[in-house]
Formats: sequence, structure tokens, C-alpha cells
Amino acid sequence: MAEDTTRSTDQPEDRQKDLHQVNKTGLSRRNFLKGLGTGAVAATVAPATLAEADSHSATTGAEITRATVKLSINQQVYQIEVEPRTTLLTVLRDGIDTGGQRIDLTGAKEVCDRGACGGCTILVDGRSVYSCMMLAIDAEGKEITTVEGLADDNELHPVQEAFIEHDALMCGFCTPGFVVASKAILDQNPNPTREEIQAELSGNICRCGTYPFIFEAVASAAKKMK
Ligand code: FES
Ligand code: FES
Repeated sequence: MAEDTTRSTDQPEDRQKDLHQVNKTGLSRRNFLKGLGTGAVAATVAPATLAEADSHSATTGAEITRATVKLSINQQVYQIEVEPRTTLLTVLRDGIDTGGQRIDLTGAKEVCDRGACGGCTILVDGRSVYSCMMLAIDAEGKEITTVEGLADDNELHPVQEAFIEHDALMCGFCTPGFVVASKAILDQNPNPTREEIQAELSGNICRCGTYPFIFEAVASAAKKMK
């Protein structure tokens, strides 16, 4: 992967922001994980489609039409104006609804922005999806769940608990994607084999190489959820 050319330039700042918030507020690692989001991922829109949408508006010079959509995210409905080419990931991280409220769900990370790493994984109607590859307008009428929506009030999801117990992260940048993807796997297959876990998580990449701990965590979460 060509790191310097494919990564968004604001990612280090995002990471610093996350870490700063942990230090500043004294949040425990457990609480920090509630803000981190994580199978095999169903890419909803082909990369070429998004690229074509971008190049079309750029080359025609036509006025860009905006659409108003209602998105149900973590059981809260947001009405938001978007360009047809706007991805769901952009809305989650940077979107502002028509009432002026920032959506500000930054658990899903923008890493490759092209469906190659899984850092932006969310659930759409219970299935894991790369949010960088789904247009926001295509998410209307569906239930969107980000890592921020996995915990039940103050109780972490068993997958989040297991990631903590098995120390399944180092820098944590990939962790939201892995946690969400793992939840989707266990919802569909409560008793996965180690080989199935590895295969289903092959759409997520961890640069720190914590894979053995991640696979252990998912197997452990499966036992907890029985
Ligand atoms: S940011 Fe890498 S798959 Fe979406
Ligand atoms: S823990 Fe650092 S990229 Fe996975």
C-alpha cells in the first residue's frame, strides 16, 4: 500500500485527538474502546462508480445538486443535505444535519478511502459495510450502526470486552473496524471456527500485526455470547 499517497492527511490529527481526549478526560481504556469502531465486508458501491461520480461533476462544471436524506444512525434520525457523491463515511465523520447538529461519529476511520483496509467498517441493516464505499443517499431507509452504537449504555458489547481482555490492539487505529466486523460475524455465525474467523476478517487490515490477539478475542466473544 502506498502509504503517503493513499492516506488522508488529517488522520494523524484524528488519532492525536482521540488519544488527547483519553488523557484529558482520564477515560479508561475501556471507555476509549467505546469510541472505537470494527468480517468480511460487503462493499456496496464499486470504486469505479465513485470515481466516475467525482470526475463527472468535475468535468461538466454543472451545478451540483444536493439531496436531503434522512439517515437512522445508532437509532437516532438525522436529516442532512448531501451531494449525491458524498460517502456515508464522510457524513458520519463530518456531516452536519439541517438543524446544525454535528454527527461527529469518528469511530469509523478514513484510511485508504477505497475499500481496501476495513478501517471504516460499519453495520448497515446488520451487515458489515465499508462506509467509504457506500453513498450516503443509498443508506436512506436503512439502520446504520457504528462502533459508538454497540455498547448498551455503560455496558460494552461482548466483542469490545473481549478485545480489552485479549489486548487485541496496539495503536488502535484499525480496532473500530475490527470490532464492528467481528460483531457482524458472530451475529451471523455464533460458533465460528478459527479458520472462519480469519477468513471473515480478511477484509480488515492491522498494520501493527495484532491478528493473533484479535482472532483470540473473537473466539472468546463467541463463547461469552452463548
Ligand atoms: S477507509 Fe479503507 S476500506 Fe474504507
Ligand atoms: S492496532 Fe495498529 S493498525 Fe491495528
